[in-house]
Amino acid sequence: MDCIRTIDGTVHDTLSFSRYAHCVSVSEFSQVLCRRYAPGFAAESESIVLASLFHDYCREWKNEDLKAYAVEHELSCEREEMVYPVLLHAPVAAHIASRTECLDSKPVIDAIRWHTLGNSQMGLLGALVFCADYMEPGRCYMNESIINTLMANETIEGLVKNILDHHISHMSKKGRPVADATLRLYDYIKGGGTFR
Ligand SMILES: [Fe+2]
Ligand SMILES: [Fe+2]
Repeated sequence: MDCIRTIDGTVHDTLSFSRYAHCVSVSEFSQVLCRRYAPGFAAESESIVLASLFHDYCREWKNEDLKAYAVEHELSCEREEMVYPVLLHAPVAAHIASRTECLDSKPVIDAIRWHTLGNSQMGLLGALVFCADYMEPGRCYMNESIINTLMANETIEGLVKNILDHHISHMSKKGRPVADATLRLYDYIKGGGTFR
């Protein structure tokens, strides 16, 4: 089975055009990041594309549908995901991925699960998708100068740290709290944690 073609078709037929374009952009940008930060991981390029294409598969569900799915399937969710149900699009999509041919591998499921909040256990694939989702050039808050600044570090861990600095500063300016999982990831990186 041509998994990329199958999942691309599923996502294309499900999401609005702009959201689909975002997923394609994340897929392209995560491969750029992989070539720069993890060239030895390029053999996993199919997984990178699959996780990227599918990460926002449930982003256009209604909040009540996300909540109902999470309850029905007894998903393990973060506190913030229950307070802001839109965030549930990550664990719900990860659960659907776990039951979908082509996506049912742990690295792909973990990458989809943690693309919003980040997690120290999201793995190298998860780190690539997390960063690409934040940075893809179509994001309204992103421009070439910011991308270059974020990418000044030589390692994927350094890139994640720069993104978290950017995110935490942005949330602080808006007077909004940072999610517990994101803060745990920040501590992990500052403590020398790595992604494998
Ligand atoms: Fe998302
Ligand atoms: Fe996204």
